[in-house]
Amino acid sequence: MTSEDVFQGKVAVVTGAAGFIGRAIVMAMTRRGATAEILDRVVADLTLEQVKAQGGQAHAQVCDIASSASVDAAIADILARHGRIDILVNCAGGGQRIGFVETTDEEWFTQINANLSGAFYTMRAALPGMLARKSGAIVNVASISGIIGGLPSKGTQGRSGPAYGAAKAGLIGLTKWAAREFGKHGVRVNAIAPGPVLTSQVMHGYDYGVEDYPIPRMGAPEDMAEAVVYLASPASSYVTGEVIKVTGGVGM
Ligand SMILES: NC(=O)c1ccc[n+]([C@@H]2O[C@H](COP(=O)([O-])OP(=O)(O)OC[C@H]3O[C@@H](n4cnc5c(N)ncnc54)[C@H](O)[C@@H]3O)[C@@H](O)[C@H]2O)c1
Repeated sequence: MTSEDVFQGKVAVVTGAAGFIGRAIVMAMTRRGATAEILDRVVADLTLEQVKAQGGQAHAQVCDIASSASVDAAIADILARHGRIDILVNCAGGGQRIGFVETTDEEWFTQINANLSGAFYTMRAALPGMLARKSGAIVNVASISGIIGGLPSKGTQGRSGPAYGAAKAGLIGLTKWAAREFGKHGVRVNAIAPGPVLTSQVMHGYDYGVEDYPIPRMGAPEDMAEAVVYLASPASSYVTGEVIKVTGGVGM
């Protein structure tokens, strides 16, 4: 359990928070006192509205995390306004169900950049301040696809493509590399690996056969958010380099 004001006074940067899981993460963190700084390539109006409605604090910038220049400018702006970043959650990303041979160079790099390079850019920009203060928590939103090579759905619906699986596996590797390097400097780096979550990505009729999962339902964005809250909070102060699967037990 994390107390209801566990993030009071903390500045939390969350990428991809115009989307379903990122929005749930921002809601869960701001409800516990964090000030959220959202970076997304699209305007995060709905998220800002919902945070405001629950009495929380959030600010959003349009930022393409696949561009290091865009990320550097956004992080510099946040540091200029707050002087610190306590928590960084890399949630932006997504994938396409494209076959191996059909994956073009352009598609490959689009997915690698959105799911992996973007997290490297935000971490590189946020880490100097965290290291100087000897305090910080980074949580990367990977995927069960990065562990098991894509989560199959039924019939001809297939699974996420090779670029997505490779990018999320890379994100897990990046998480562990950074955890080894920065733990002694007070910065923890962890990841979650969601299974199928009821969001825009999977609402379009994919059938994962979740009735056969140990917990027989789709995940909710809020399930992911609570795992992120744990990894970002002092409740996990002796945990680093870990990947928590939030999958209802599939891929255990
Ligand atoms: N939904 C699932 O079943 C599921 C499962 C495993 C992992 N995930 C991961 O969870 C994260 C959130 O997914 P979601 O389901 O909420 O999807 P979503 O599409 O609702 O949200 C993703 C957000 O990332 C943003 N984004 C993508 N590329 C970006 C870029 N280059 N720069 C800035 N922002 C960018 C999008 O604009 C969007 O707001 C993703 O990283 C996804 O890979 C989702």
